Amino acid sequence: MTANLLDGKKIASEIRENVARRAEELKARGVVPGLAVILVGEDPASKVYVGQKEKACREAGFKSDLLRLPESTTQEELLSVIGRLNADPSVHGILVQLPLPSRIDPEAVIAAIDPAKDVDGFHPVNVGHLVSGVPGMVPCTPLGIVRMLESYRIPLAGKHAVIVGRSSIVGKPLAHLLLARDCTVTVCHSRTQDLAYFTRQADVLVAAAGRPKLITADMVKPGAVVVDVGINRLESGLAGDVDFEAVREVAGWITPVPGGVGPLTIAMLLENTLAAATRSLQ
Ligand code: GUN
Repeated sequence: MTANLLDGKKIASEIRENVARRAEELKARGVVPGLAVILVGEDPASKVYVGQKEKACREAGFKSDLLRLPESTTQEELLSVIGRLNADPSVHGILVQLPLPSRIDPEAVIAAIDPAKDVDGFHPVNVGHLVSGVPGMVPCTPLGIVRMLESYRIPLAGKHAVIVGRSSIVGKPLAHLLLARDCTVTVCHSRTQDLAYFTRQADVLVAAAGRPKLITADMVKPGAVVVDVGINRLESGLAGDVDFEAVREVAGWITPVPGGVGPLTIAMLLENTLAAATRSLQ
C-alpha cells in the first residue's frame, strides 16, 4: 500500500487566501501588514528563501521590504538597522535570514529584535513563552508542520512522535508544540546511538537533520506519518531527509519534497506577520 500524500502546497494556498482576506479587512481599518526581511551577504539558498517570502507577502497584500546588506556588514551596523525597524510603526514583522556571516553573533542579533515583531519566534522571550505554554510568536516551520497534521486530522494525543534533529529552528520548538498536543516526544540527533531503534517506534516521524535520504524504509513503522523537513540541494536536484520512493511504500502518510513542509513555513510567516499587525491596533 502506498502512503497518502500530505499536500503542503494545497494547505498553504488555502491559508494564504485566508490571510489575504484578513489583510484586506485590516487595511480597511487603516493598517497594512508590513514585513521587513534582512538578508546579509550572498548565500544562494538564503536568496531563494527570501525571494519566496517577499513574493508571498506581496501576493497577500502586505508591505514587504527586503533589506539587502553586504557580506561585510558589521554586527553594530546590523543592530542599528534592527533598532530603526523596531521603532518603525509601519513594520510589524522583522525577519533576519539565517545563517549570518560568521563574524556576526546570531544570538545577539535575535535578542535585539522587538519580541512583538519577532515573526520567526526565535527571540528568547518567545522561546520562553513556547516552553511555558504561553501564547507567543512560534517558529514558522514547526508551526506549519503542526498545522498540516491538524488540517489532515491526524491524531496526535498519546502518539509517539520521534523528531530527528535538535535545531532551534525546527527540532526543539517542534518538540514543545507536540508535547502541548499530548504526544510522547523523543528527540534524536547526530549523536544518537542506534537511530533506527527510535525511528521504528514512531507513530509520527519528523526528519529535520539536513542529511539527504537519512531515513530509509527499514527505519519506518508500517503506517507511520512521515514528515520530511529536509531541503538538501544535490547535483541531482532537491532531496529531502527521507528516501521518499522507498518510504512511501511503508508509511501511512508522507510529505513530498518539494511541496510538503516548505510552503507551510511561508504561510505561517504570513500568519505571524498578520497577527503582529492585528495586535498593533489593540
Ligand atoms: N534559515 C533557515 N530557516 C529559517 C527561518 O525559518 N528563519 C530565518 N530567519 N532564517 C532561516
